[in-house]
Amino acid sequence: MAQAIDAAAPIEHPGEEQSNDLRRRMQAVEPQCLRTFTPSLAVFARSEGSYHYTHEGRKLADFTSGVLVANLGHNPKRWWQRMLGYLNLSAATLAGEVDETEGAEDEYLPAVPLTAYNGVTEVEVEASERLIALMQRQRGGARCEQVMWAASGSEAVQKALWTALARRPGQDVILATRYGFHGKKGLAGAVTGSEKDKERDSRVRFIDFPREECMSLEKRKQPLDLKKYEQELETLWRELGSRICCLITEPYLGGGGSFPLRLLPPPPTPRPPPGSERQRCPD
Ligand SMILES: Cc1ncc(COP(=O)(O)O)c(C=O)c1O
Repeated sequence: MAQAIDAAAPIEHPGEEQSNDLRRRMQAVEPQCLRTFTPSLAVFARSEGSYHYTHEGRKLADFTSGVLVANLGHNPKRWWQRMLGYLNLSAATLAGEVDETEGAEDEYLPAVPLTAYNGVTEVEVEASERLIALMQRQRGGARCEQVMWAASGSEAVQKALWTALARRPGQDVILATRYGFHGKKGLAGAVTGSEKDKERDSRVRFIDFPREECMSLEKRKQPLDLKKYEQELETLWRELGSRICCLITEPYLGGGGSFPLRLLPPPPTPRPPPGSERQRCPD
């Protein structure tokens, strides 16, 4: 029988003295809700590429964040070299010029600031220019003209949804595919999961996504019949018409598994809503 887990008890594993100590210290200074509860609570001393290493020297393949977040792997050498270069810092400068003496004149390094807030730095402007150029070279990216930066995934989703809602006054319905993960805050939280979750928003309507059809490799080899999904969209279109503002989905349903986008056919040609000449805006 599965054992009940007491999330409040300190997490300890035999033979992990240093990690156990760090877990205890962490639990003393952090609220329990800060981290996603995981009974292993591995303590990483360092990470390299696709692997983490614990203080006790265990090598762990990284299945925690590699898929969704650390898509370059951990600490790529070239990335760090470029990062220091953009900041106008070199490892030699750091090693030679940092003076730990309090009040020392050279307590600071002449480098690009890490935050400019209501000012701007060249590296920020160049980052936007290069991102736009990169996007415009991609298929379908030619319309990318500006970059709205965000400090987290949830913030990016919130800003994108606000933008869509503001651009289309009166179009207040957001369609979201069920079991996606878009973050936990604000509208990003409201489009995450399904209608059964907490903190819903009346503007969000969940729709189905072909999950069952892609549930196994065997099933993925079968022809994909998307009729019922098309019908669901048709029904919503009849009900809501031009009240539909936007649709948010992700090919990797963070709350439900991986469903590669390549299985989906091209989007249908836009049609006017019933009883209106108005066209669905292609963007
Ligand atoms: C697809 C997707 N969107 C949004 C988010 C939310 O990002 P953040 O945790 O940075 O707010 C995540 C986080 O895993 C994500 O996987």
